[in-house]
Amino acid sequence: MARFLMCPPTYYGVMYQINPWMAQGQPVDKDLASKQWQDLHDTLASIPGVQVELIEPQEGLPDMVFTANAGVVKGDLFIPSNFRHPERQGESEFFEKWFREHGYRVEVLPKGLFFEGAGDLLKIGDTWFGGYYFRSDPQALAVVSQLMEEAVLPLRLKDERFYHLDTCLCRLKDSALYYPGAFDDYSLRLLRNRFPDAVEVTEEEAVRFACNTVVIDDMFVLHRPSDRLSATLAERGIKCVPVDMSEFIKAGGSSKCLTLRLD
Ligand code: ARG
Repeated sequence: MARFLMCPPTYYGVMYQINPWMAQGQPVDKDLASKQWQDLHDTLASIPGVQVELIEPQEGLPDMVFTANAGVVKGDLFIPSNFRHPERQGESEFFEKWFREHGYRVEVLPKGLFFEGAGDLLKIGDTWFGGYYFRSDPQALAVVSQLMEEAVLPLRLKDERFYHLDTCLCRLKDSALYYPGAFDDYSLRLLRNRFPDAVEVTEEEAVRFACNTVVIDDMFVLHRPSDRLSATLAERGIKCVPVDMSEFIKAGGSSKCLTLRLD
């Protein structure tokens, strides 16, 4: 059983610039974005054992579609994000409300400590990894670690195109898929030690958001993977389910960013 939270793209668009993808100024095709979001939704909802919950979108909050940044969930605990950019700060009250109404215990982080939820915090095996620098603060990861009662290994991001951890790292069974160029030397050493058999993606694959994958057991739901990557993943027993996320990549997010794992 896997449960996800998604937010329909009713008010989605690139209306400000808070990452290099948005700064390219490519116009979003609204109809195509709706279709792509619906395809992703239907693809996930059709997988046996998968349930997709929805939150109502809000006018003036175009990035609310990226529910991975709502916060982080562990059991019945929800820790809402403290968004770094004022443009996204308005989302928090709506996410908090949704989680309270759905029976979660909400623990709020101290003001001034930035944290962007599952965008910067993910679990591989028994270990939680936290990305910091562009969006989340290392001090915030320390507080999150205390609240969750879990150790969090911090990873320092260094390439602004990969400003959230989930743009450059994901779980691959008991190992990992990541883009080495996104991490500083120390963090890369940590990943390589920890996951000697990881799959490293090329820059070309990384900018197609290869690591921004919805992982459901041995299935990867991701934006058009390269032939090389599909073949490499197939050798590892992973089935790729390609989706087209072109309109969301214009805002700096792909399939994983559009979902938040609830269980
Ligand atoms: N435009 C959004 C932002 O810059 C995209 C968020 C992508 N989300 C993610 N989990 N990587 O905040």
